[in-house]
Amino acid sequence: MAPLAKVARLDRLLLPVHRWVWGDFDRRVRKLLAFAEVESDGGRDILRAAEVTPDSLLRRLYLEHAIDELHHGDLFRQRGAALLRTRSTRLNTLFNGSPLPGGHGLDDLSVQDEPDYRLLAFLHIAEKSAAGRFTIYRDLVDDDPQTKAIFEEILRDEVFHMNYTYTQLARVMPQSYKKHVWRARASRLWKRYLRIAAAIASVLGAMMLTLIYFVALIPFAWIAKRAERRAPRGWTPITTAPNDSPTRQY
Ligand SMILES: [Fe+2]
Ligand SMILES: [Fe+2]
Repeated sequence: MAPLAKVARLDRLLLPVHRWVWGDFDRRVRKLLAFAEVESDGGRDILRAAEVTPDSLLRRLYLEHAIDELHHGDLFRQRGAALLRTRSTRLNTLFNGSPLPGGHGLDDLSVQDEPDYRLLAFLHIAEKSAAGRFTIYRDLVDDDPQTKAIFEEILRDEVFHMNYTYTQLARVMPQSYKKHVWRARASRLWKRYLRIAAAIASVLGAMMLTLIYFVALIPFAWIAKRAERRAPRGWTPITTAPNDSPTRQY
């Protein structure tokens, strides 16, 4: 089992965030249910990959992989539901989703249009990242032995997925497998950057609009007040309007 020291640097930096998420019952339940969706989605994508690959060994491995991911989805869903039954849970917590990329690295890929080597490289990177994060999560739920046991079980599978995808990538692309892993890693980092940048842009945009609203409101309110003071009160006669009959519509 990978020790905490070996997990991704970014996830180590985010340890206080992870602790905050897992330290609260409601957030823990939300997170487990969100994981259930992510794992089941990943399982369905990998099942599709098994259908379309021309490689018979990969088809068998993808199938086993898909079964594992669907099983992970069930484990998370059952545990989330079991925790929910123990206590009535508010469903509108401040933090419901995950700030981290989900899926199995396949979120941005159209599985049926991708060659196996690209799929394997993406899967390898995603499984490695998942194994790192599940190591952290397992260590953060010491107070909940059943959830911890689920992470232990899933972690073993993720490590297997991480290893077989690398081995198979090296088999199908013996000359260039390292290049494909780096490319997948760069693409994943870029997607992660875009997600974070979009989230920051959304917050900054809302702040700017709020600021503009209040800053622009003051002079406009002042101008409106002044115009109101200058406007004559009561009815005002129309000055030179002729009483000609209209000869056209406009
Ligand atoms: Fe999984
Ligand atoms: Fe996996």
